[in-house]
Amino acid sequence: MVRFPDGFLWGTATAAHQVEGDNWNNDWWAWEHAPDTACVDPSGDACDHYWRYPQDLDILVELGFQAYRFSIEWSRIEPEEGEWSGAQLDHYARMLDACIERGLQPVVTFHHFTTPRWAASDGGWTNPVIAERFARFCEHAVAALGDRIAMACTINEPNIVPLMGWLMGAFPPGRTQDLDGYAKATEHLIAAHRRAFDVLKAGPGDFPVGLTLSMSDWWAEPGCEAEMQQYRAHHEDVYLEACRDNDFVGVQAYSRTRVDSTGVTGPEPGVEVLAMGYEYWPSAAEAAIRHAVEVTGLPVYVTENGIGTDDDDQRIRFLQESLAGVARTIDDGLDVRGFFHWSLMDNFEWAFGYRMKFGIVGVDQTTQRRTIKQSARWLSEVVKSNMLP
Ligand code: NOJ
Repeated sequence: MVRFPDGFLWGTATAAHQVEGDNWNNDWWAWEHAPDTACVDPSGDACDHYWRYPQDLDILVELGFQAYRFSIEWSRIEPEEGEWSGAQLDHYARMLDACIERGLQPVVTFHHFTTPRWAASDGGWTNPVIAERFARFCEHAVAALGDRIAMACTINEPNIVPLMGWLMGAFPPGRTQDLDGYAKATEHLIAAHRRAFDVLKAGPGDFPVGLTLSMSDWWAEPGCEAEMQQYRAHHEDVYLEACRDNDFVGVQAYSRTRVDSTGVTGPEPGVEVLAMGYEYWPSAAEAAIRHAVEVTGLPVYVTENGIGTDDDDQRIRFLQESLAGVARTIDDGLDVRGFFHWSLMDNFEWAFGYRMKFGIVGVDQTTQRRTIKQSARWLSEVVKSNMLP
């Protein structure tokens, strides 16, 4: 048995576009419906979480979690530039209240991959005005919601947005090898994070603010150490360095990235490959925590970790191994304060659509019926006992 420290925060995570449904006013909805994209499904009703959140929060309580990380949708709150929806802010206020009433700490993400259509239409993240636009959105949102927030994440995985959007063509705006776009988007995402950090810290409310980063267990083939460090510096360190004065860093790591003399390379032959196309690699969280602490010295929350699989026994095995790694970092004296499972429920996995099952709760796409999986029961035991078998 491994015991987690008292007060260790257990939660699950979701993102607005992946679970709410009917988020038609952002760049992702447009992207899902554009011809020639790799998207396999439109997001559609998603999990109808926009309306069903009370029932979903009840499940979290039943399972013993203490926190819920979710995102608020910019395109709902500011549907056109400078037009603010009081009704949508009220919706999120009700959602925050529903968490608080149930004893769940609401952890709010202000941007999780989706950008309003109006803001994406004139360059999106490559346009320098975006940082100011995002800060203004945060200002309006925090004015309405700040008193209820327990913890805030400014931008989710800002490193994935330019990578997928300007180099790989898998996210809007679907550019490939656009190095100039990649560099500009990176610069403006970092600027937006810094502006948002200041805005959120000004209140109302007094809560920790940080960034959540997509990280990896970086692995260099013999002789390729320097090259690996260069890749990691671009993908992780520039962001980690930009958040050194934040309250925490959110670590999200799902697999390993190998670098050989040809650059970033695929899975190693013989290692199990998941449907997502990357290796089954449960030590990713541990490695990422260690690197995040090394670069920032900040307290860490694992703001996402999990596995996309139809095999729920494999999920339990993955979580068991992954959490053992998290526990090792704590044993070594690292300040790791919580773990948020990705995800509460099966949801819209971006270009992969609904095929990927990351949830500990299953969702029937037709009936919206929720099913609590065995892995949810297993994780619930860990959460309630604060111990890992
Ligand atoms: C990271 C992202 O934040 C989330 O949106 C995604 O669904 C998970 N990883 C799983 O790929």
